[in-house]
Amino acid sequence: MLIVNISSILGILPPETVRLSGKEMDTAMQRLDGSAWLLVDGEHISAFGSMSGLKTEDLTGRHIVDARGGMLLPSFCDSHTHIVYAGSRDGEYLDKIRGLSYEEIARRGGGILNSADLLHRTSEDELYRQARIRLDEVTAKGTGAIEIKSGYGLTVADELKMLRVIARLKQESPAVVRSTFLGAHAVGRAYTGRQSEYVDLVINDMLPAVAAEGLAEFVDVFCDEGFFTVDETARILDAAARYGIRPKIHACELANSGGVQIGVSRGALSVDHLERMEQPEIDSLHGSGTIATMLPGASFFLGIPFAPARRAVDSGLAVALASDYNPGSSPSGDMRMVMALGCIRMRLTPAEALAACTVNGAAAMDVAGTCGAITPGRLANFIITRPIPSDAFITYAYTTPFISEVYLRGKKLS
Ligand code: NIG
Ligand code: FE
Repeated sequence: MLIVNISSILGILPPETVRLSGKEMDTAMQRLDGSAWLLVDGEHISAFGSMSGLKTEDLTGRHIVDARGGMLLPSFCDSHTHIVYAGSRDGEYLDKIRGLSYEEIARRGGGILNSADLLHRTSEDELYRQARIRLDEVTAKGTGAIEIKSGYGLTVADELKMLRVIARLKQESPAVVRSTFLGAHAVGRAYTGRQSEYVDLVINDMLPAVAAEGLAEFVDVFCDEGFFTVDETARILDAAARYGIRPKIHACELANSGGVQIGVSRGALSVDHLERMEQPEIDSLHGSGTIATMLPGASFFLGIPFAPARRAVDSGLAVALASDYNPGSSPSGDMRMVMALGCIRMRLTPAEALAACTVNGAAAMDVAGTCGAITPGRLANFIITRPIPSDAFITYAYTTPFISEVYLRGKKLS
């Protein structure tokens, strides 16, 4: 397939580049302006260039797609979501509007435990059906790779039910799917007041079962005030390491929790949220392989501070942005909105926001060798835009429809 008449190709990287840090986030992704073409071979990008260099014989025998002057950019890599859940929590939305905080709603038995009760009553097939609708929604909006967490099961059987749904999404969706075991998202109801016994259950029962079925690439812990402590987090991460499962941590959302340092010390792929992160956390990330993942949709929805993205990038860190799509703190998986919040509220440039939502998101789920940039050899996962005046327009006019077509693994999404 040969795509012609592309006004600009954005997000070009050489094959060896699998993450961008600091200043590189603004400058390293190259663009090809003027009229361009891109060649797809099966599921992969094979080449691109300027229309002026294209000869008539290059067109023969090819399936030609006319981009009609739209831009072409890599599809989004959303490295932190919870899209497998039952129903919604719109019932708590009014409490939130009336002024209850996320923590107050959770203390009243709402929040994550409310979702766990609903999930328990929902069959695996029905859970798949609901999650598939969300996944199809976000792929249509340009997400090509996505990480999905468990964590609304909170019993051995229900955590496995969630992870099997993720495994099925992985099989059946054209998106690249990575799965994370988040048994330590909240203390399951049956263990109220017995948190350390619940941690034992996560370590001694859940983890071995998850590992035996090969259901998770990563492990996560909600390491924060009112949820799991740094010591409990360390125990869970060390147990997961014995199965070769790498961590991604929820840290510093509700308080400056110590989650960043424990994540870094255990070689976490990413530490996520970071709304309350301060200079010691930024310092601890320097020189680590850990990506600083920020979730502006949660700040927007909960009315909490935005994570210090500008400061983190200026200090040289690799920052990713993700949607956190979940029923309690971010009921949206729209990565274009995430990029817009990154620019408007976190003061990232459009180029930095694109890097944060593509290559660095891919790095945060260890798929940057195959996703996250326009690079020959990587998957042909990209968005063709409607004609737009500039790339900045995507996050500036942040609700104007901008997508013309989405391609995943070289196939147009219908
Ligand atoms: O990333 N912070 C913890 N977990 C999710 C919210 C989960 C929920 O409220 O359902 C988050 O924000
Ligand atoms: Fe989350």
